[in-house]
Amino acid sequence: TCSAGDSQTIVIGLAADSGCGKSTFMRRLTSVFGGAAEPPKGGNPDSNTLISETTTVICLDDYHSLDRTGRKEKGVTALDPRANNFDLMYEQVKAMKDGVSVEKPIYNHVTGLLDPPELIKPPKILVIEGLHPMYDARVRELLDFSIYLDISNEVKFAWKIQRDMTERGHSLESIKASIEARKPDFDAYIDPQKQYADAVIEVLPTQLIPDDNEGKVLRVRLIMKEGVKYFSPVYLFDEGSTIEWIPCGRKLTCSYPGIKFSYGPDAYFGHEVSILEMDGKFDRLDELIYVESHLSNLSTKFYGEVTQQMLKHADFPGSNNGTGLFQTIVGLKIRDLYEQIITSKAAAPVEAKA
Ligand code: ADP
Ligand code: G6P
Repeated sequence: TCSAGDSQTIVIGLAADSGCGKSTFMRRLTSVFGGAAEPPKGGNPDSNTLISETTTVICLDDYHSLDRTGRKEKGVTALDPRANNFDLMYEQVKAMKDGVSVEKPIYNHVTGLLDPPELIKPPKILVIEGLHPMYDARVRELLDFSIYLDISNEVKFAWKIQRDMTERGHSLESIKASIEARKPDFDAYIDPQKQYADAVIEVLPTQLIPDDNEGKVLRVRLIMKEGVKYFSPVYLFDEGSTIEWIPCGRKLTCSYPGIKFSYGPDAYFGHEVSILEMDGKFDRLDELIYVESHLSNLSTKFYGEVTQQMLKHADFPGSNNGTGLFQTIVGLKIRDLYEQIITSKAAAPVEAKA
């Protein structure tokens, strides 16, 4: 029969610890789809949802089964599966994938309580972002594409200090303590999800400066799984070869410590992958076109689209390094994936839809 699911929703999972750049990534992604995402109009001002013309981003914290007090009483963290309702997460993501609206709960980050639910209509693209998009096997099965943001401990620490100390007035000791307290559950429940991701963005300290611990210069790796339907990994110079490239010189201005790209095939949790790496930072974003012109399979719609996107959001964190570059590239790949799925659905015989 012809249900509401005629225009199918594609589902993207984005996993990372909190404070690891998920919302920045989402802003880059929705921009690639041609519109900024905003909170639902006229709803709960503490809603975690973001909606644009094509894309709805829901935060999986909304599926907390225990509120802040409940977690405290039971002695479990938000990262613990026991604090989350995976049955409901599965039911609602499945419903939206089938074209059915849902009444999704809201976890209020201000009060730490569960607020009355909000109505979410099935969008063209549903992004589920949070701590556990790939934890539950049933939810994982619903994902058309999955991404894991893997921020190394050193970098996580540097970013947390930036945010919690500079912007929220926390002490260095309390930040250290909160990271330490999260670590066992992070290692047990969050980190293992990266083995399921179709793309991983790994953020590490630079190798260009010996013993660097400032976290200002980053080495970023885009790990792309081979053989994923509708996804063809980006490559540098020649697909499948192994390359090291220092683009600094006549066509790209670099200050200390410079920029180094690497590319090649590798293995990741037993899967065949391609890895594109950038260590260092850009001095002049307009010159990024030089780097862009040496990358292939970018899924751009016109020459220079990556550079244009990066320039457009030059004020977002990570715009001068591989985090911004690779987030932008993954955004373009997701747009391409979406368009391919839509085209293949349109071409499929009617019977196949039932
Ligand atoms: P999340 O949504 O995962 O909590 P945000 O995107 O809000 O994370 O980022 C949290 C903070 O981390 C930002 O305010 C910024 O200080 C820092 N941050 C995020 N991404 C980057 C980046 N690519 N480079 C540097 N700092 C970053
Ligand atoms: C959300 C975040 C977690 C964070 C938690 C705060 O669920 O996703 O990363 O730890 O809120 O929990 P707390 O128990 O400190 O209120």
